[in-house]
Amino acid sequence: MEVFYTINSLRYYLDQVDKKVGFVPTMGALHEGHLSLVRYCKANNDVTVVSIFVNPTQFNDKEDLANYPRTLEKDLQMLQKEGVDVVFCPSVDEMYPEPDTRTFDLGGLDKMMEGAFRPGHFNGVVQIVTKLFEVVRPQTAYFGEKDFQQLTIIRYVVNQLQIPVQIVSCPIVREPDGLAMSSRNLLLGENERKAAPLISQVLFKAKNLKGNYSVEELKNWVINQINSNPYLKVEYFEIVDDVSLRPVSRWDEPVAKVGCIAVRAGKIRLIDNVRF
Ligand code: PAF
Repeated sequence: MEVFYTINSLRYYLDQVDKKVGFVPTMGALHEGHLSLVRYCKANNDVTVVSIFVNPTQFNDKEDLANYPRTLEKDLQMLQKEGVDVVFCPSVDEMYPEPDTRTFDLGGLDKMMEGAFRPGHFNGVVQIVTKLFEVVRPQTAYFGEKDFQQLTIIRYVVNQLQIPVQIVSCPIVREPDGLAMSSRNLLLGENERKAAPLISQVLFKAKNLKGNYSVEELKNWVINQINSNPYLKVEYFEIVDDVSLRPVSRWDEPVAKVGCIAVRAGKIRLIDNVRF
């Protein structure tokens, strides 16, 4: 496994490679969810590149950035074991020698849900992802469906900017108790960790109850069920069209529907989603 810290050294290496390059961008603190992306990538490409970079421009909260778990040595061991070919772990100065002043028109997709609670977050995600795409120039890049709004926005940007990369999404990987895997799960307190599986349990129940309630009633039911646990507080739960992210108001609207939720568990925000 080759590990690169600079754009020049990575580019020099990739310029010699005349093969199909697949890319998995990450912020490290790797778990089975990331490894599932790596496995999809390895199965469908000749060379698998993984980046590990905690991108400061996508954190709207300084404390969240400072507390974000950083486990580089362990991450590298995990990637080596998976047979990854190339890891790129640049410094902040390497990726941002100058402040990135670009603002992207994300067609309004960044205004609701995560965007409403984390102003500037998606602009930062798009800044780093477009930079990484320019550096790695992959044919295909892999993103998890847990960050559903991020995935939708990246597809939108790739289309708008005509970036020659195919975006592949991979299903959410869950802990045995149903909690969607996330690097932030490491930061949960004991009580919050115990409470957190309620989120997916309620989402899955809601899927089955769909016939009995209107969209509005079901949304309220989900919020009340989760808020009934003293360690959890719903920030939003929306059932949206999976392309425009516009909230749906009726089950018979002819669009694919995803229920997206964000929940505060103590100081930690958890997100999850399920198809309806
Ligand atoms: O999903 C993530 O881990 C990050 O948002 C990403 C795509 C690696 C950009 O920093």
